[in-house]
Amino acid sequence: MTDHLTVVTHPLVQHKLTLMREKDTSTASFRRLLREISLLLAYEITREMELTSKWIETPLQEMKAPILEGKKLALVSILRAGNGLLDGILELIPAARVGFIGLYRDPETLKPVQYYCKVPAEIEDRLVIVVDPMLATGNSSVAAIDLLKEKGAKNIRFLCLLAAPEGVARMKEAHPDVPIVTAALDERLNDHGYIVPGLGDAGDRMFGTK
Ligand code: URA
Repeated sequence: MTDHLTVVTHPLVQHKLTLMREKDTSTASFRRLLREISLLLAYEITREMELTSKWIETPLQEMKAPILEGKKLALVSILRAGNGLLDGILELIPAARVGFIGLYRDPETLKPVQYYCKVPAEIEDRLVIVVDPMLATGNSSVAAIDLLKEKGAKNIRFLCLLAAPEGVARMKEAHPDVPIVTAALDERLNDHGYIVPGLGDAGDRMFGTK
């Protein structure tokens, strides 16, 4: 991937995103749409995965057929909203290895602090896709990617549903080597750090919490 930011303009993605943004969309529908949209976004972010080939036998004859090269990719979910994207992607790539990073915001410094981190072995040899539906300030995604790089990850991509220009700029400054794939680039962040027009709190909407 060469572009730092890819907005997936596929009509199905855009249609489903509109339904997710609507405030009266139920938790069940929101979850279903998120799973469906994550399949389409995963298709885009894995478009340039490397292929090799192997000899196989079809019922008719032998052929040299394409097959994914290298180690299984790693999906890393930023807790808790990342898990909503993770479920859909795992349907498409069931053999993927999975990691989790939990971060909270220190009330005094306002900086992200890690409370959980478990990532797949041999992370340095894998394509790593970090998932979090909302790229808002970019603080947690930058911190998560800092952590992954400390653990040796070299080939990282970031997948989200919505991005704010502020978050994209922060990521570009901190991690220019990490391409971002999103369904939409929204207008801005409001004073509470929410993406506008956005869809509200993604975690609350997918889990039915407040
Ligand atoms: N996290 C969310 O869930 N929503 C936003 O708008 C911003 C961050």
